[in-house]
Amino acid sequence: MQPDDLVCYCYHVPLRKLLHFARRERPQRASRMSQCLGAGTGCGWCIPFLEKIAADPDGCRLISESPDDYAARRRAYILEKRPKNTFAAADADPASAPEAPVPAPPPSPGAAPASPDGQV
Ligand code: FES
Repeated sequence: MQPDDLVCYCYHVPLRKLLHFARRERPQRASRMSQCLGAGTGCGWCIPFLEKIAADPDGCRLISESPDDYAARRRAYILEKRPKNTFAAADADPASAPEAPVPAPPPSPGAAPASPDGQV
C-alpha cells in the first residue's frame, strides 16, 4: 500500500494523513485516530489498521497487501452482516468508562407542551 492509498474508505483518509497525524499527536488511545478527518467513525473496517498506526506510527509496516486486495476485503466486510469493528477493545479501560446519560430528544416544532403529569 502506498502513502496516498486510502485506509479509511468511509471518510477518504489516506495512509499518509494517518501516519502524519499519529507521528505528530502520538495518540495515547487508538480512538484518537478518529480526530484525523473522522477516520474509523463510519463502518469500522479500518479500525484495526488505525490501531496499528496509533501503536507504532514510526515503525508501522502497516498494510503489506495491495490496495485492490484491501479494498476487496473492505467490500466483503461491508457485505457481511457481522458486528462492526469498534475502538472499544483497544481503548478498554473499565474504570474510566461510565455510562453516559442519553439526553431526551428536543420537542418537535409545533408540538403541544406536555403537562406535568405527562398528559398532552
Ligand atoms: S473504512 Fe474507515 S470507517 Fe469505514
